[in-house]
Amino acid sequence: MTENTARVALVTGATSGIGLSVARLLASQGHKVFIGARNAENVTETVKQLQGEGLEADGSALDVTDADSVKAFVQAAVDRFGTVDVLVNNAGRSGGGVTADIEDELWDAVIDTNLNSVFRVTREVLNTGGMRHKDRGRIINIASTAGKQGVVLGAPYSASKHGVVGFTKALGNELAPTGITVNAVCPGYVETPMAQRVRQGYAAAYSTSEDAILEKFQSKIPLGRYSTPDEVAGLVGYLASDTAASITAQALNVCGGLGNF
Ligand code: NAI
Repeated sequence: MTENTARVALVTGATSGIGLSVARLLASQGHKVFIGARNAENVTETVKQLQGEGLEADGSALDVTDADSVKAFVQAAVDRFGTVDVLVNNAGRSGGGVTADIEDELWDAVIDTNLNSVFRVTREVLNTGGMRHKDRGRIINIASTAGKQGVVLGAPYSASKHGVVGFTKALGNELAPTGITVNAVCPGYVETPMAQRVRQGYAAAYSTSEDAILEKFQSKIPLGRYSTPDEVAGLVGYLASDTAASITAQALNVCGGLGNF
């Protein structure tokens, strides 16, 4: 990190996949990183792992769908490391199917986990986290290329991620004069536990094998392969830096060419 003082970064859903890579990268850049995910044991394990790598990290259990949990999480981060400079809204879930058959519960759960949570955590960080009183801040939302293009059998997911992109652009414009930037990072296909679950879902929907689905997906990506969590984290790390001060209200892809806008 080019800055002199260590900054405080919050990463949601950081026990796995992209969130874990982001937490590790931000900590290696000199941030004090506070992580959250639903399973407290996984959080403890991940914190231990990061600390074992010589990184400054701590965390607590967090359910981004629960307002009280979000408040307690942000307060715990402030108590531990101080007010928040960087927020990475990463926690998310997959979910979809034949739209005519989707139950309210699934629709609501996907929208709540992926979209309402981004508003909920961001508002808490601006207030309890103290960010609204700073002259510099970074809010980075992990959306998806599915937030720009429609995904077949993924209507709730696609709708939620389009919502995240819209929220990002509106808040980015709103906060631009304050020195707080707000951006979305849009991964395409990234090899994580979620990606495996997604392939399982499509294999079942199309009565085929997970390998066949993998091949089909890879053939759609100009680069010919999934991106890695570290490649996504790299852009998050850049957006968190001082050099990225003039990048705001954007939705930037990390997708091997899958999306063009
Ligand atoms: P993952 O399933 O490996 O990790 C998701 C993380 O979010 C886990 O730590 C999980 O505990 C946490 N989480 C889920 N629900 C939560 C809740 N209610 N409260 C707190 N934490 C919760 O997934 P992955 O692939 O690393 O995804 C991370 C983000 O990237 C998600 O927002 C996802 O939509 C997005 N994304 C992933 C892509 C992929 O191909 N893997 C592509 C595009 C976007």
